Amino acid sequence: MMGEKNLQTLLATMHPVQRTGEYVYVLWPHGKPLVPGIEAAVREAEGLTVVLPRAEADELGLKYDFVAAWITLEIHSELEAVGLTAAVSRALTDAKISCNVLAGFHHDHLLVSVGDSARALEVLAELSAAHAADPEPAREVKLRSETPDDRAAILALTAEAFAVSPVTGLPVEGEPEEVDLLRRLFECDEYRPDFSVVAEVDGEIVGHVISTRAWADGLELLGLGPIGVTPRLQRHGIGTALMRETVIRANAAGERGIGLLGSTEYYQRFGFVPASSMGIEAPDTHWGDNFQFLPLALWPGGVHGTFRYAGPFVATESNPTSGKR
Ligand SMILES: CC(C)(COP(=O)(O)OP(=O)(O)OC[C@H]1O[C@@H](n2cnc3c(N)ncnc32)[C@H](O)[C@@H]1OP(=O)(O)O)[C@@H](O)C(=O)NCCC(=O)NCCS
Repeated sequence: MMGEKNLQTLLATMHPVQRTGEYVYVLWPHGKPLVPGIEAAVREAEGLTVVLPRAEADELGLKYDFVAAWITLEIHSELEAVGLTAAVSRALTDAKISCNVLAGFHHDHLLVSVGDSARALEVLAELSAAHAADPEPAREVKLRSETPDDRAAILALTAEAFAVSPVTGLPVEGEPEEVDLLRRLFECDEYRPDFSVVAEVDGEIVGHVISTRAWADGLELLGLGPIGVTPRLQRHGIGTALMRETVIRANAAGERGIGLLGSTEYYQRFGFVPASSMGIEAPDTHWGDNFQFLPLALWPGGVHGTFRYAGPFVATESNPTSGKR
């Protein structure tokens, strides 16, 4: 379809540029003459909203709540921007970044909270990069719940995925401990079949993620891990697909939140935040910000307690989830 191709080109060629400074939305005082510093204005029956540099608003003594960074989507293309803002807003929404879009004659502009600006630029760069190449049609990755018949293949792929320790970066001697952990998770009371998900390519199991019942402050939660992808297919989006599927399933099942131990760099793209910022303490205080939490749609808030994983995690002699992932 022509429209889609155009959108692909637009996304691939867009170049997000952040203006210097901070910007605010203010309700302009009725009858006050406009000042040159105003960057955008919208007249409504209720009054005039203007966007202007924060410093100017301060100088004029105007009140504001939202302090924004201003990102302009420079696009080197004559194409019509059909669907561009929708695609951009969606990518930012998926990354839990809210944005206000202003459409100018030449470009679209995004106002995001100043605290989110670096991440927003990253998300836009990722979105652009994802459309940059004209890749071979990707082989279809099928996600489905694990069945007992899959277990041998899952254990084998987990052994492969963890053959090099994600904690130390060194080869592991013998069977990686995640394999036995997984064996025991399959058999434990906290096992939830719908949260053991495999990724299949051409009938071969190439990825797996499991989440099991966990708790904090008496509230039922999910503890995610291990997650593994066959080494030869890592960095092809399979881990991302498994993470997203888990979050979709968890929301659909009315779960409240997911805890995990892992790299902050990797998991924050799925909306995970340091668990302590949500009132949830790690089972091991040494884990710090690597113990992360994703509050789901039904997250009740006001939860304060230590996260408790399924039994097999605790029973593992040397806890396989310890250390930085
Ligand atoms: C971690 C793992 C599940 C990710 O799956 P994947 O299919 O390789 O990841 P995706 O292709 O979806 O995502 C790739 C992105 O994640 C990043 N990434 C992958 N693993 C990462 C890690 N451990 N730390 C930080 N970033 C990581 C990549 O740099 C890449 O980033 P980019 O998109 O900005 O280039 C997979 O690499 C794996 O099995 N690793 C070995 C086992 C492991 O470490 N499991 C997690 C600990 S329980």
